[in-house]
Amino acid sequence: MNKKYHIVTYGCQMNVHDSERIAGMLTELGYSSCDSMEEADIVVFNTCCIRENAENHAYGNIGMLKKLKANKRDMIIAVGGCMPQQIGKADILHKKFPYVDIIFGTHNLNHLKEYIRLKESGKKSVIEIYDSEGEIVEGESPLRTSYPNAWINITYGCNNFCSYCIVPYVRGRERSRRSENVIAEARSLISEGYRELTLLGQNVNSYANGTDDIRFPQLLEKVAAIDGKFRLRFMTSHPKDFSEELARAIASNGKICHLVHLPVQSGSDRILKAMNRKYTAADYLKKIEILKKYVPDCAVTTDLIVGFPGETDEDFRATLDLVKEVGFSSAFTFVYSKREGTVAAKMENQVPEEVSKERIMELVALVNSQTREQSAKYVGHTCEILCEDYDTKRGLFLGRDEYGRMGYFNSDKNVIGQFVNIKVNEANGVSLMGEIV
Ligand code: SAH
Ligand code: SF4
Ligand code: F3S
Repeated sequence: MNKKYHIVTYGCQMNVHDSERIAGMLTELGYSSCDSMEEADIVVFNTCCIRENAENHAYGNIGMLKKLKANKRDMIIAVGGCMPQQIGKADILHKKFPYVDIIFGTHNLNHLKEYIRLKESGKKSVIEIYDSEGEIVEGESPLRTSYPNAWINITYGCNNFCSYCIVPYVRGRERSRRSENVIAEARSLISEGYRELTLLGQNVNSYANGTDDIRFPQLLEKVAAIDGKFRLRFMTSHPKDFSEELARAIASNGKICHLVHLPVQSGSDRILKAMNRKYTAADYLKKIEILKKYVPDCAVTTDLIVGFPGETDEDFRATLDLVKEVGFSSAFTFVYSKREGTVAAKMENQVPEEVSKERIMELVALVNSQTREQSAKYVGHTCEILCEDYDTKRGLFLGRDEYGRMGYFNSDKNVIGQFVNIKVNEANGVSLMGEIV
């Protein structure tokens, strides 16, 4: 019998790549992928808990499976990732959704195969969460789903404990893969035909900190030195650790994309301090200046939070001012979400929802206007796009340029995975419309 799996992923790129690892394990167990939960013999929810709405999405979707499971008793439902890794959450999930068969966390994701085997051999349910991270696992065979891009983990976990953030609690302490393993993986991906590699970590700048291994700028240079035409990206950089050396490394090899995702979170020094970010707005601007000194055309994207506890109108204005000053090419904007167990959750002066809503609307309007302005500059110019997909609704191919700008275009033949030059005829908001030249 041909058994089928369906994976539902929430959250960040690291989770997207974790789902590729899960897909690899399911393939080894003889399952093949399918598009819907109805068809699936196993459904895996790879969850996120960064904000309350990420959890609510998962609750909603797991809840919807109750009926399906009642009619299809052999179907296996597994819930894993960051949500069950929170203290006490696995029990809550088990009580709320007794029909879920397997619950696992981030630290034991690599054991999912065993859990599925146990379930297949008749065990009622498998609920296992590890309290702490184990050794880094090498030699897995993820089933990659984002060709021509491939994700490569370089660090796991986070030691920064920004006061609002749950990640250090659910991903454990920061640890780095050995550079020889990262480089070997990169080399083999390039020889398999991947055209873009993205090095992943919560804070890539602190790669190999406290070990005898090479630092992040050298790692970047070594990966970029692999033969072949490809693009190299990385995320995320923490401003406190962004160095001149890294700016030089970005400039040193054309394969390294001129795009840095450098989350600033706020433009107010008071709030940055309360967030435990360890830099001021002026420090941040200085880092941008250093980056631009070596890479003048570098695009910068960011993450911003509004409504952090105690954020006054003046603090929020400082964020708007910083956004105006930097001119981000795009930004992810979030309303602060209280996460149990973090330092900020105990802070007084939580900002009322209506205030946060007004602020986020104003911020989004500003960010969008900047993005539109920057996109408009492309019109009439030619840019190189790495084609990554075909949009069936629009009947157009799409891909990004090195700065991360999305471009749509027509082509008679399938060009997914190829670099194409397009002349931009139109810019609409975040994306560009063009034709192959
Ligand atoms: N390690 C990365 C990003 C981690 S999470 C970094 O340090 O930048 C991605 C983004 O989610 C963060 O940059 C932050 O803007 C946002 N975020 C994290 N916790 C949040 C919370 N409690 N409420 C709202 N946004 C949050
Ligand atoms: Fe969270 Fe801060 Fe770590 Fe990023 S650096 S994952 S925001 S604690
Ligand atoms: Fe979410 Fe976990 Fe990533 S909390 S943002 S999936 S590290």
